[in-house]
Amino acid sequence: MPWTHRSFGDATASILRRMRKVIVTGGAGYIGSHTVVELAAAGYTPILVDDLRNSQERAVEGLTTLLGRAPELHRIDCADQAALERVFAQGRIDGVIHFAAEKAVGESVAEPLKYYTNNIGSLTSLLAVMERHGVRKLVFSSSCTVYGQPEKLPVDENAPDHHPTSPYGFTKVVCEQLLRDVCVADPAFRAALLRYFNPIGAHPSAHIGELPLGVPNNLVPFVMQTAAGLRDQLVVHGDDYHTPDGSCVRDYIHVVDLAQAHVKALAMLDEANAPQCDAFNLGTGHGHSVMEVVRTSEEVIGRKLPYTIGPRRAGDVASVYADATKAHEVLGWIAQLGLRESLEDAWRWQQRLES
Ligand code: UD1
Repeated sequence: MPWTHRSFGDATASILRRMRKVIVTGGAGYIGSHTVVELAAAGYTPILVDDLRNSQERAVEGLTTLLGRAPELHRIDCADQAALERVFAQGRIDGVIHFAAEKAVGESVAEPLKYYTNNIGSLTSLLAVMERHGVRKLVFSSSCTVYGQPEKLPVDENAPDHHPTSPYGFTKVVCEQLLRDVCVADPAFRAALLRYFNPIGAHPSAHIGELPLGVPNNLVPFVMQTAAGLRDQLVVHGDDYHTPDGSCVRDYIHVVDLAQAHVKALAMLDEANAPQCDAFNLGTGHGHSVMEVVRTSEEVIGRKLPYTIGPRRAGDVASVYADATKAHEVLGWIAQLGLRESLEDAWRWQQRLES
């Protein structure tokens, strides 16, 4: 058996993990904050690096409630190597989970330079500092967007010819390749590339959740804000796709399930026989159409949702959902929660925001 925390009893493993500091870039963001909670629950000590440009103090307040103490937060830009150096200088950093990135598909089409600069620049900066401090474990926040429209569904990690439909998607492809190259150059470096499908929902406590700035781009926050009366109506972007009801199909995964996968991935990187650099799909394996999301939301909310059918949105693919077998086999992870539970938690969070 490899010499890892799994070789010990649970209590010993927990003590050992508490000594293990994990830097979480983008730790005050949507997926980052949920991952911080799961890391702490597993006994790690998360250290947040986040300049809050796409987040809010409210996320830090929610984390403080859930953790029972304020998290260690460094309000710095990942691209600022000198500032990052100071965080790493405290020593004994076990690994890094890198979330900090721009993520709006449409905006990336309008402002490609911002996306290439920020998403690739923050990773190269982080890797340079990690190298100087001998930290060689990274869990990277990638996306199913790297597949573009796959030929075969459900899509697995070996799908050929990755053709994203946006600059945002290409930044994920480039970052994945960069990490593969780093692993070739340094055989001791280990990376897990986690390809998320569509994260939705919120922590069941409703202390943390998604905090979109301005008008939400993503479906579920828009649905919830419409239900709360903050938006007049939802526009369904197209009903003429080659899908069962004509609207786009996605694999919606509960953000807490997703967060737990990061903890599993981090633990996996400690295993002697872990792959050096590998990609994992994180989805439920089930596709749901936009109209199914609307109908299920109506059931959860308990009333009809005002919506209209609009034209297709530029950059959207018709259908994508995961074959997540590899994550199950290698990480021992499987999504536990379905669409309804995710929407229930999203609605509870929306109501908390309004109260
Ligand atoms: C995309 C990426 C995903 C990424 C996310 C970040 C793909 C396949 N997925 O998700 O990896 O993490 O962006 O933002 O590239 N919709 C409406 N009305 C709305 C909003 C959305 O009909 O007001 C529809 C969209 O057209 C789409 C579905 O809802 O069919 C989901 O959209 P969204 O929540 O924005 O996520 P993706 O674009 O699938």
